[in-house]
Amino acid sequence: MTNPSSPPRTGAPDKPGAVVAGPGAGAMQALDVMLGHHARLLRLCDALESIADSLPERVDVRQCLQTARGLGPAVRDAHRFEEEVFYPLARAVIGPRPRFEENLTRLQDEHREDESFADEAAEALMDWGLCGGPRGSDMTGYMLRGLFETLRRHIAFEREYLVAPVEDHLAR
Ligand SMILES: [Fe+2]
Repeated sequence: MTNPSSPPRTGAPDKPGAVVAGPGAGAMQALDVMLGHHARLLRLCDALESIADSLPERVDVRQCLQTARGLGPAVRDAHRFEEEVFYPLARAVIGPRPRFEENLTRLQDEHREDESFADEAAEALMDWGLCGGPRGSDMTGYMLRGLFETLRRHIAFEREYLVAPVEDHLAR
């Protein structure tokens, strides 16, 4: 089982399609990149939680701005890699499973929702960073908590359902 707090072993590739391959070296590389994306998103979840806990009096303006700038690109980069590279790899490695395609469709639907929530959260964080929170701390805190809880749940499911079986297969 993967340790959710472990640091990424590699970064995202410049060309995600370049690591599409069957089981083998390409698959190992894709697994590393996938874990790197998850680690990056989990660090952002920690930052979102820290900001939510600090609202309104102790909010760190710089952290708000940094997180606002990083959120959208990190979420979209991860989702693009998963959908273009890792999901096809998992499909090839794991093989047919009951409800496998249904679950992939559900995960991709969650990606679109999370991208939309991430954009809203980034906008709110930018407001806090630049204007001191015109939206109100309760609303922003609620939004941030909703986002990081959803992202953590999504990642936990992907790890159990997709990453762990691929790791097991490659370890054989
Ligand atoms: Fe995902």
